[in-house]
Amino acid sequence: MTLAPRPWILDVPPYVPGVPGGDEDGSLASNESPLGASPEVGVSIAKAVDNIHRYPDPLATELRAALAAHHGVRPEQILVGNGSDELIMLLAIGYLAQGGQVVCAEPAYRIDEISTQLVGGTVHGVPLVDGVHDLETMAAVEADVAYVVNPHNPTGTTRSRADVERFLRTRRARFAIVDEAYIDFCDDPAEASAIGLLPLGGFAVLRTFSKVYGLAGLRIGYLVAPAEVADVLRRVRTPFSVNALAQAGALAALRDRDHLELVRRHALAAREELTAELRAIGLAPYASQANFVLVPVPDEAAAAEHFARHEVRVRPGTALGMPGHVRISVPSARGMVRLRSAIRTLPR
Ligand SMILES: Cc1ncc(COP(=O)(O)O)c(C=O)c1O
Repeated sequence: MTLAPRPWILDVPPYVPGVPGGDEDGSLASNESPLGASPEVGVSIAKAVDNIHRYPDPLATELRAALAAHHGVRPEQILVGNGSDELIMLLAIGYLAQGGQVVCAEPAYRIDEISTQLVGGTVHGVPLVDGVHDLETMAAVEADVAYVVNPHNPTGTTRSRADVERFLRTRRARFAIVDEAYIDFCDDPAEASAIGLLPLGGFAVLRTFSKVYGLAGLRIGYLVAPAEVADVLRRVRTPFSVNALAQAGALAALRDRDHLELVRRHALAAREELTAELRAIGLAPYASQANFVLVPVPDEAAAAEHFARHEVRVRPGTALGMPGHVRISVPSARGMVRLRSAIRTLPR
């Protein structure tokens, strides 16, 4: 007798990660921070190393308290996860297993779809309109969970907070997730975020330390949710999924607001320059509020190869549900020099 996976598992297309570049300045496929983490993170992790023979705090109590104070919510409303991807998976297990229904954009952030399908749920994708969430159509779809990614990945586009509020008030889905992985790169993050709407109830906001804080390799993110949802997901998770070094690093990163502001300002300027360079050769990138720009190209594979020849790795759109596009993360200053010459010689 051989053991077979559950019949639907092999039907779920696996996640295709971005390929790192040959060096720091050429890695533009995964929306990581080109300026790295705050120097305080390393100091904090070095101290925490003394205790790695102990299990981590299962609930990341200190970090949770700091996040609760930062967002003006109660600690019971916060759940810290091994990257926000883990939290998306916990939501799927807790609320979507065995027949749950999800409504999301088409294309969606891939993990929202994959997590749903892996637990035997169904995804209803509502096509983007000009690269933007069609919240009005999504609101009319009956579902257990609605995923709104704002700014969206892979397009970088946003809907205003007023639009998100209207969606939250009118949606037929029982619960909504507003994924704000890239919110700090918006022109006005406080204005764009749905966190202030949490008193409406019935939804949660996802955040990550992987982007503006530059901690993608530590794997840490969090959910701000109604306390009863955080409590359910706490029962689903493995108790020690967030390691001690990640907790220490995230706490230091959260405290260093100057570093965050530095990364933010760099990203906004680099995004503007990247967008202008692409427009200057006649391409039409999406209006991005994230730390990347998605652009339609005449030949996706040829464009990705051309960038690679200029020592820049970008993300081919096919893996993101956008064939005929490439997604380019904002680079460092040195990366921008390479990118500029690659864009200016891009075959058209
Ligand atoms: C929209 C969105 N949500 C969540 C994540 C996952 O972030 P994490 O590294 O915290 O798992 C990403 C990562 O690229 C993302 O683009």
